[in-house]
Amino acid sequence: MERIMRTKGLSGTTDNAVSEREIAGMKVARKTAAAGMVLLKNEDNVLPLKAGSPVALYGAGAAHTIKGGMGSGDVNERASVSIWEGMTKAGFAITNETWLRDFEATYTKAREDWRDELTEKNNSGEGGPFGFFFVYSNNPFRMPTGRKIDRAKDASGDTQTAFYILSRVCGEGADRFNEEGDYYMTAEEHEMLADICSIYEDVIVVLNAGGQVDLSFMDEFRNIKGLIQMAQPGMEGGNAFADVVSGRVNPSAKLTDTYAFRYEDYPNEKNYSHNNGNTETEEYNEGIYVGYRYFDSYGIPVRYGFGYGLSYTDFEITSGDAALASGEAEQEISIEAVVKNTGDRAGREVVQLYASLPAGRLEKEAKRLVGFIKTPELAPGEEAAVMIEVPLKRLASYDESKAAWILEQGTYGLWLGNSLADAKPSAAVILDEEAVLEQDKNICPLEQELKEFQRDAEEIVKEYLAAKEALTKAGVQVVLLNAADIKTEVIEYRKNEDLTEPEAREFVDTLTTEQLIALAAGDPGQAQGTNNLGAAGISVPGSAAQTSCAAAEQNLASIVLADGPAGLRLMRFYMVKDGQIVNFPFEFSLEGGFFVPDAEKAEGVRYNQYCTAIPTGVVLAQTWDTDLVAEAGEMVGKEMLYFGVTLWLAPGMCIHRNPLCGRNFEYYSEDPVLTGEIAAAMTNGVQRNPGVGTTIKHFACNNQEDDRMTSNSVLSERVLREIYLRGFEIAVKKAQPMSLMTSYNLVNGVHAANNYDLVTNVLRNEWGFRGAVMTDWTTTMQLQDPKTATAVGCMKAGNDMIMPGAPSDFEQLRGALADGSLSLDELKANIARTVSIIWQSSMYENAVPYRK
Ligand code: BGC
Repeated sequence: MERIMRTKGLSGTTDNAVSEREIAGMKVARKTAAAGMVLLKNEDNVLPLKAGSPVALYGAGAAHTIKGGMGSGDVNERASVSIWEGMTKAGFAITNETWLRDFEATYTKAREDWRDELTEKNNSGEGGPFGFFFVYSNNPFRMPTGRKIDRAKDASGDTQTAFYILSRVCGEGADRFNEEGDYYMTAEEHEMLADICSIYEDVIVVLNAGGQVDLSFMDEFRNIKGLIQMAQPGMEGGNAFADVVSGRVNPSAKLTDTYAFRYEDYPNEKNYSHNNGNTETEEYNEGIYVGYRYFDSYGIPVRYGFGYGLSYTDFEITSGDAALASGEAEQEISIEAVVKNTGDRAGREVVQLYASLPAGRLEKEAKRLVGFIKTPELAPGEEAAVMIEVPLKRLASYDESKAAWILEQGTYGLWLGNSLADAKPSAAVILDEEAVLEQDKNICPLEQELKEFQRDAEEIVKEYLAAKEALTKAGVQVVLLNAADIKTEVIEYRKNEDLTEPEAREFVDTLTTEQLIALAAGDPGQAQGTNNLGAAGISVPGSAAQTSCAAAEQNLASIVLADGPAGLRLMRFYMVKDGQIVNFPFEFSLEGGFFVPDAEKAEGVRYNQYCTAIPTGVVLAQTWDTDLVAEAGEMVGKEMLYFGVTLWLAPGMCIHRNPLCGRNFEYYSEDPVLTGEIAAAMTNGVQRNPGVGTTIKHFACNNQEDDRMTSNSVLSERVLREIYLRGFEIAVKKAQPMSLMTSYNLVNGVHAANNYDLVTNVLRNEWGFRGAVMTDWTTTMQLQDPKTATAVGCMKAGNDMIMPGAPSDFEQLRGALADGSLSLDELKANIARTVSIIWQSSMYENAVPYRK
């Protein structure tokens, strides 16, 4: 087939008017943000408030609501709506505008001081090889508190209701700290909250942070009647917030993480990242007991549990029929639930299904999430039946001794509810004998001894018997499952070289060795130095990279890759002078261009590239609404087509292993099934647009940001598979993302980008991934450290593209081909997979649609 390359103009527009595209994006951003805010406390029905009522707004996030996180996950939108603006537009009377205006001045000054501080640090070389980016990620902006409340000036209005918005900034490259100003409130913030509570009758606290914070203040002040987990809601946050507090939108979001009473309650609190002074070796001692699996199994009380969230109405969930069905690819259990709105407002509910598992050879968690569904909006009194399908693998455990996913003999309880704590007996599945669901081979062996948490065996048996008794007492429906009827899938492991599409492999045979080498990495373009983390794309300014033009003569396009996951990250604008793109420094692609204030004065014709800042990953996941997430993805896909971007470097989907991970906001949850379902929905949404695709990341175990390029995640194969790979598996099988990004860290001593087990054995052979794999940015460029990945190692592992590409990568590949440590066949397989993706890109008018 002859492929016709599109003629590509400059990206963006010289028109400064707000476009239809932006308006459509804002609508989606507002809807997802409102659907993703979790109402955690609503004493005396303090919310919703009547539109027009007088309210006071305090805290840093009132006037400067943090829309998203720092770093590559940032998005440069035209403007973002603060809570102050949103509430004002919604008709609320803001009674403390003097305080808010004073805050503005303090904020502006603090921002300028911060910029000066970073510039100075960067100029003095503190950033090392990563320059500004390193300085920036290690010195996140700390929001000022604002001045003390002056009762006469600020609180003389006639309101008894005040909001306190607690904000925290964080981002990639550094983990958070278990200290004041980060996980805890500062003394100043605490004093402000105390003042608010002494002045106003009804206080509502709003969490506007990139990660969890300590909530012990909730026990201190009797008049904190409301609590909202807003997280980082994207550019329409303020409007969405007003939608929720006014009741225009009835909250329906649920937590995707457990909120413990104290930080010390988390299972890995002592050892996590810098907490034990060792950021090099991260032992995953808690094993399968991550998040709620730990709290629930060990009976440790929590402040707000997994899956929890309130509504302005009430629902009743009852179980319907349970049956064995055959799903798309495997056997599954289907459970019907009937949900009735028993309150007096329309609303939506999230039906969650958890499983309890037999006590047997393998130690198991008390319960795990196996499925969920969000109802449509139900009017008061209305009811709806929903169906949840549970593939058998969701009930299975991985047995390392057999290298297989197995179902142990016994009773599997299914529990239905609107949170983990609320889940009630719904059905039981009884399996007569142990069955093997999938026969794999062992991967990623441990290089050192690892002690994992182990519960008392007797306690586990007691827990199992108690669960069985509860199911029997409730008289639930029983589904009998015969091991003899369960088919075992035996994985066939093919070599890296053999996993290609024939047409692309043939094309690759026509390329010269130098072309092959060039295509193994991104186009270095301006990436000649090392300070190019995240802005090495040339044709679309601010994009993170693009593939090589080396085979342009053979009609192979160079495709553009741009960041996410909270929208597309491009430079807000760029200039064209004398027919040339005048690109601004990398810093301009962060924080709306704040670090390059002179850009506004640059000469030339201005091309705007305003993108839609959707809510961050946590907020999207908190919606538990796969249709809505797909809608957001579809919108992002349209923006990609508009700007000429083929691959979106999103969604991020690592597991929240500890609340201090600097990047939790980009990821979804502490639970793999929820993570996988949301990532699949996002991918399906983006890829509804032919010619563009997602890049799920960071594969795998990027659970720590400090020393992220050299840290070694040490974990058992079972935990790796059940907790950390499971979400990726679901996303790959349900949505076939066009590409995947490996992570910076090592997994049991082998760098993720050089990890044949992860990339070839698991991703391609076991899951059937058909896309291309790329490294994270500059992964191969720390050659002075033998622990980092090599370019040759990437190719051998099946990691097809080294991004953003550097001259040293090419030299290394040339050397390895010459000395025989890399075969041409191996290299060709990688390039063939990249070619397959490029051919499916919207860069061609007649691209082959991406094969799902
Ligand atoms: C991040 C990636 C990102 C890449 C390109 C890296 O620093 O870890 O998530 O996609 O930069 O900006």
